[in-house]
Amino acid sequence: MNDKYFIKAENYISELFHLTDPVLAATLQSVQDAGIHDIGVSPSQGKLLQLLARLCGAKKILEMGTFFGYSGIWLARALPADGQLITLEYDPQNAAFAEKNFANAGLQNKIQIRTGNALELLPQLEAEGVGPFDMIFIDADKPPYAEYFRLALHLSRPGTLIIADNVVRHVFDPATPEDKKNGVLRFNQLIAASDAVSAVILQTVGIKEPDGMAIAIVN
Ligand SMILES: C[S@@+](CC[C@H](N)C(=O)[O-])C[C@H]1O[C@@H](n2cnc3c(N)ncnc32)[C@H](O)[C@@H]1O
Repeated sequence: MNDKYFIKAENYISELFHLTDPVLAATLQSVQDAGIHDIGVSPSQGKLLQLLARLCGAKKILEMGTFFGYSGIWLARALPADGQLITLEYDPQNAAFAEKNFANAGLQNKIQIRTGNALELLPQLEAEGVGPFDMIFIDADKPPYAEYFRLALHLSRPGTLIIADNVVRHVFDPATPEDKKNGVLRFNQLIAASDAVSAVILQTVGIKEPDGMAIAIVN
């Protein structure tokens, strides 16, 4: 089993389940055109997020880390007509690209992008009383993952599904900076020990580097 095998397998799965379309392809193209390394989820992970959103009947979804909107499109497509995705993005340029991609997907009415630091935006959401969310996807910077999780709990209800991406690679990659590694380690220890959730980490492989997604349900 090597990287080539995982890439071939992911491409096989993508073709089999038709995991692309003009909107998703245009979103990925916008990342390429901007000359930025694609740090979004893979097509099969996007579909997994969509299936999980449907599985929990999500009407209100919160995402931390919009990037160019790729995962946001997968998630928002799972929402009913009156559903909403609120997605938080620190970088105004990324937010502007995402806004265009959401409009191209015809999802602008279902998605609200809030630009700023998620650590500040999350308490604001709580103060506004916009929660509880049915599903929360943590995919922003890694050092404060544990803080994001704690703040996410304030925006949750029993049964809320909390997903966090990239929780394995940084534990083992010798090139990962210490603050990232410690952030992920603190998060993993927190969800493993927390009585507030029942959780596990699913390893992920494919076109992205081997990694893992944490899946937690609020008790
Ligand atoms: C891994 S990318 C998100 C990928 C996206 N969820 C997808 O799969 O298409 C992480 C994003 O989080 C943003 N980010 C980093 N620190 C942040 C913070 N403190 N608050 C909000 N967003 C942040 C980055 O600018 C980047 O766009």
